[in-house]
Amino acid sequence: MSELKYQSGFGNEFATEAIAGTLPVGRNSPQRVAHGLYAEQLSGTAFTAPRHANRRSWLYRIRPAAVHGAFTPFVQTAFHNDFGAGAVTPERLRWDPRPLPTTPTDFIDGLFTVSGNGSAAAQAGIGIHLYAANRSMQGRFFYDADGELLIVPQQGRLRIATELGILEIAPHEIAIIPRGVRFRVDLPDVTARGYVCENFGALLRLPDLGPIGSNGLANSRDFLTPVAAYEDSEGEFELIAKFQGHLWRAPIGHSPLDVVGWHGNYAPYKYDLRRFNTIGSISYDHPDPSIFLVLHSPSDTPGTSNMDFVIFPPRWLVAEDTFRPPWFHRNIASEFMGLIHGEYDAKAGGFVPGGASLHNCMTAHGPDAATFAKASAADVGKPDHITDTMAFMFETRAVIRPTRQALESPQLQRDYWQCWQGLQKQAKFDA
Ligand SMILES: [Fe+2]
Repeated sequence: MSELKYQSGFGNEFATEAIAGTLPVGRNSPQRVAHGLYAEQLSGTAFTAPRHANRRSWLYRIRPAAVHGAFTPFVQTAFHNDFGAGAVTPERLRWDPRPLPTTPTDFIDGLFTVSGNGSAAAQAGIGIHLYAANRSMQGRFFYDADGELLIVPQQGRLRIATELGILEIAPHEIAIIPRGVRFRVDLPDVTARGYVCENFGALLRLPDLGPIGSNGLANSRDFLTPVAAYEDSEGEFELIAKFQGHLWRAPIGHSPLDVVGWHGNYAPYKYDLRRFNTIGSISYDHPDPSIFLVLHSPSDTPGTSNMDFVIFPPRWLVAEDTFRPPWFHRNIASEFMGLIHGEYDAKAGGFVPGGASLHNCMTAHGPDAATFAKASAADVGKPDHITDTMAFMFETRAVIRPTRQALESPQLQRDYWQCWQGLQKQAKFDA
């Protein structure tokens, strides 16, 4: 596989061309584009969004994106946005990893919706999906009109060929595919498994840093956007669209990944979670997990996100006279967690790579009995180095509703609630 090239920086104005002289100079849509290409604008925000938040790109392509056949429904019943409207359990939920497929299954076939909230129609909320695949998408392309996709591999690499270039990601890396961008997922390894957050709300962005200063957390220059790469191929292909929670397909006689050059700031990107500058206490206590925020989708309420993407990476714990693992807690926010690698420091077992947990608004959770006992007896005069872990969380302001198929899944751990039952009364009072 050839070495892929990337452009550095978060949300920058990029300009890239696979053939010299493709990009027009001094205008976006000249009367005639070089090489007989078509000019097309792809807007990811309202035309009138403030300049700092405005995202759009100009694409110079072999055929306009409009050249494809009529849409008809496409059936993949496990991938949807039906989060239900009735009662939702407040129970703490945890799942084992989904098994890898045994029949030919590509990235689209292998998507399984676990939970979510809001809707594409409301432009708020998220869908949470798992994927498990064992073959590349063949003659098939996909775009999601409902939201941008945050892809978190847990096992196996993904080679994501998009209209704006090719991204390759491995576990510990993430990719973001903007709403509407067409792509195909190829599997360089035999199998692939991971998580997808479908963000119906405002585009993911880097958090402000406040008193942290001008550096720290995820640094802008570590976000990588592909350079232009195009396919000039014809055949009987299909274009699959996700639109308002449902899937559609249209025949297309050529690869839609035919953009020879583009410029703008609406583009896919990737980030290596190991580059995260993890910040924590060097005196006592540990800060709220918002200190581990990589990217967030803001809501209309200042300081309250539609979705926060948070990671729990390797780090030193040095706080004195402090219970060092995550504490017992109840939050107004709702938390979906996944594990990419190793162990998570709040649980002694049961939460394994590829698995997931869901702790909804005000449901009580925290360390299990074994973790509590170990951390309570630890020598906090010495630092701990947590080295073998990478967990993450999709945290939302709205309750995350598990899907029926997730609740009926054989991977659901129906005894998860018991992991806190070993916490005995230990209070002793003088008579
Ligand atoms: Fe939590």
